[in-house]
Amino acid sequence: MFPTHRPRRLRQHPQLRRMVQETLVTQADLIYPLFAVPGDQVAKEVSSMPGVYQLSIDKIVEEAKEVYDLGIPAIILFGIPDEKDTDATGAWHDCGIVQKATTAVKEAVPDLMVIVDTCLCEYTSHGHCGYLEVGDLSGRVLNDPTLELLKKTAVAQANAGADIIAPSGMMDGFVQAIRAGLDESGFEDLPILSYAAKYASAYYGPFRDAAESAPQFGDRRTYQMDPANGTEALKEIELDIAEGADMLMVKPALAYMDIIWRVKQATNLPVAAYNVSGEYAMVKAAALNGWIDEQKVVMETMTSFKRSGADLILTYHAKDVARWLG
Ligand code: PBG
Ligand code: ZN
Repeated sequence: MFPTHRPRRLRQHPQLRRMVQETLVTQADLIYPLFAVPGDQVAKEVSSMPGVYQLSIDKIVEEAKEVYDLGIPAIILFGIPDEKDTDATGAWHDCGIVQKATTAVKEAVPDLMVIVDTCLCEYTSHGHCGYLEVGDLSGRVLNDPTLELLKKTAVAQANAGADIIAPSGMMDGFVQAIRAGLDESGFEDLPILSYAAKYASAYYGPFRDAAESAPQFGDRRTYQMDPANGTEALKEIELDIAEGADMLMVKPALAYMDIIWRVKQATNLPVAAYNVSGEYAMVKAAALNGWIDEQKVVMETMTSFKRSGADLILTYHAKDVARWLG
């Protein structure tokens, strides 16, 4: 008798398929990124990211309400300051754009979790994630002096009311530095979601349009990871756990699902996957051309992130996904 085993038996009815489904995506898994700009009533679509806007704080607040009403538990905020300088003043100043947006959102929608991206590239005149040696055009960020600025930034973000701090600069000792800064300021209960394994990726291209943060010279390969390396991601997460990270992120997501899997296997902390701007832009471009079914492709992708071990997904599709889940 052939075949003896018939796996198709369990695929014969939609209810039976539901019963044996292993992975479920829910609204609670989603984190929606937002870009804050100065001004009033500003909503400027990012050309490389259809459906994503740079928003002034009044518009961010409206958006936050909508996100909350869709059942999404958290947003992550990025900021585009009025002025950029070599000290990244806009990042750590109490009146920085992200600090102001955080306070406004928490006031209007107190139960929405506000995650803040802690990095300096949106605020430095050269677009790198920290201090550079004067005259050095290689983009080799000075690690330890940069930590001081990042610590100040995290404390300012905490003072503004942030619920979760997300260090994204790939500096050595980043988590330890901001954990110390937060604890010294009385924020020992504020969680850190570390961008633990962040690769030097071409998939960030559209984000750099959105955040106006493309490096003016050089690249980020002296701090972000080489896409060729997997074991090194385990080194990065081991360090971040030892330094006090509460949650870990892998970024980008789509081309790095093996890393998501390995990180999840290696830790008992929640793992987040960042479905980055270039991944979003590719889906949008194909969908707008009628080449793919956007909803099906996006839901398949979200399900696959979870299957590969992600507990949380940062995605520009979050509002659509929440609506499709109904
Ligand atoms: C800032 C930061 C970046 C992203 C998130 N935080 C860009 C970068 O490292 O150049 C990328 C997100 C995306 O592409 O959607 N360090
Ligand atoms: Zn950065």
